[in-house]
Amino acid sequence: MPQVFSRRADARLHLALWVGAGAALLAAGAAFVAARAGSTWAVGRPAAQPIPYSHAIHAGQLGLDCRYCHASVESAASAGMPTAETCLGCHARVWSVDAQFAPLRTALALGAPVEWSSVHRLPEHVRFHHGAHTQAGVACETCHGRVWEMPRTVKAEPLHMGWCLDCHRDPAPRLRPSAEAAFDRDWRPVPGAPPSAPGAGTLAALRYEHLGVEVPPLTRCSICHK
Ligand code: HEC
Ligand code: HEC
Ligand code: HEC
Ligand code: HEC
Ligand code: HEC
Repeated sequence: MPQVFSRRADARLHLALWVGAGAALLAAGAAFVAARAGSTWAVGRPAAQPIPYSHAIHAGQLGLDCRYCHASVESAASAGMPTAETCLGCHARVWSVDAQFAPLRTALALGAPVEWSSVHRLPEHVRFHHGAHTQAGVACETCHGRVWEMPRTVKAEPLHMGWCLDCHRDPAPRLRPSAEAAFDRDWRPVPGAPPSAPGAGTLAALRYEHLGVEVPPLTRCSICHK
């Protein structure tokens, strides 16, 4: 075949192609790093709240159990949020003199919940269930960090799909031996102890064992997507 382009033009074309491919790779790499970075997922950023509530005071200093305010966390999909009455059990005497408690008064008068801003909302197409995780021995701390030390609630983990899958591929090493241990702030693994047997004690294992139905792997799309 006769030469259509000069040798110089050919070389320039090759150079341009290599530079283009290199730039595309770099851009993809940067996009991947950005997608995995915590800042993209609002990790560590508090949300504006109607009342300057502090977990560090209530769950930390006062030592209240998480279930005192998030009552459905062991059984339901949603952890549940405290009602105005829960707060007023202790704050009834100071609320009238303190403007920062005004949203509690409004909520009580309207019979409506306090409008807390969420820092953890997942997209609509994703399914999540607190009870299943708590019963399997996944601690609040594993997903939410040391909440009882937070003056303002922030996300401790990105909660993106890759993060969920990191555990769903092999949960055993990250499980505690019981649901109660999932609430124990001082729980530490016994050095040298084997991890909980894969699947042992989990709802899925129990639910399907007796029916003779195969347990779907936790990585299947339909586990988390509607
Ligand atoms: C006295 C009541 C109370 C107790 C006890 C309590 N919380 Fe909360 N929690 C709240 C309130 C009020 C909010 C909403 C305001 C905020 O985000 O700070 C909240 C928000 C949260 C959120 C963020 C929810 C979202 O929508 O993103 C998490 C996570 C959380 N709590 C975990 C815990 C854990 C873990 C414990 C136990 C260590 C705990 N809480 C104990 C009252 C409480
Ligand atoms: C078990 C009793 C108890 C409950 C329930 C309770 N609080 Fe408190 N709260 C306290 C005490 C005690 C303090 C004062 C701590 C201090 O000043 O060191 C406090 C302090 C506060 C403060 C002042 C924080 C600051 O930075 O000075 C706010 C705001 C507050 N609580 C909001 C709430 C809200 C909202 C709820 C319900 C979700 C709630 N509390 C539930 C006992 C309680
Ligand atoms: C496996 C990870 C994981 C564990 C373990 C976990 N959470 Fe959550 N939590 C989440 C995710 C994800 C969301 C956002 C849920 C959504 O948007 O549907 C959330 C949301 C919340 C909320 C906001 C209300 C709601 O249910 O949407 C509260 C409060 C909360 N968690 C408290 C807790 C407490 C208390 C514990 C420990 C008993 C706990 N969580 C354990 C991942 C976890
Ligand atoms: C630290 C480990 C861990 C993390 C992180 C985790 N999971 Fe799970 N998840 C589990 C375990 C263990 C089970 C099995 C519970 C059972 O067998 O009942 C489970 C079960 C589930 C189920 C099935 C519940 C049922 O029984 O129907 C859903 C849905 C789910 N996870 C969603 C998520 C999502 C979404 C995320 C990320 C936001 C996530 N999980 C993060 C450990 C984890
Ligand atoms: C353990 C739970 C879990 C499993 C299993 C899972 N996903 Fe997801 N997926 C999520 C979560 C959480 C999000 C939302 C956060 C995000 O975009 O990463 C998500 C988001 C997505 C998105 C939207 C991404 C975007 O940019 O908006 C797609 C598409 C998706 N998943 C496809 C899949 C497919 C296909 C499978 C099966 C191979 C799968 N997922 C399995 C948890 C899961």
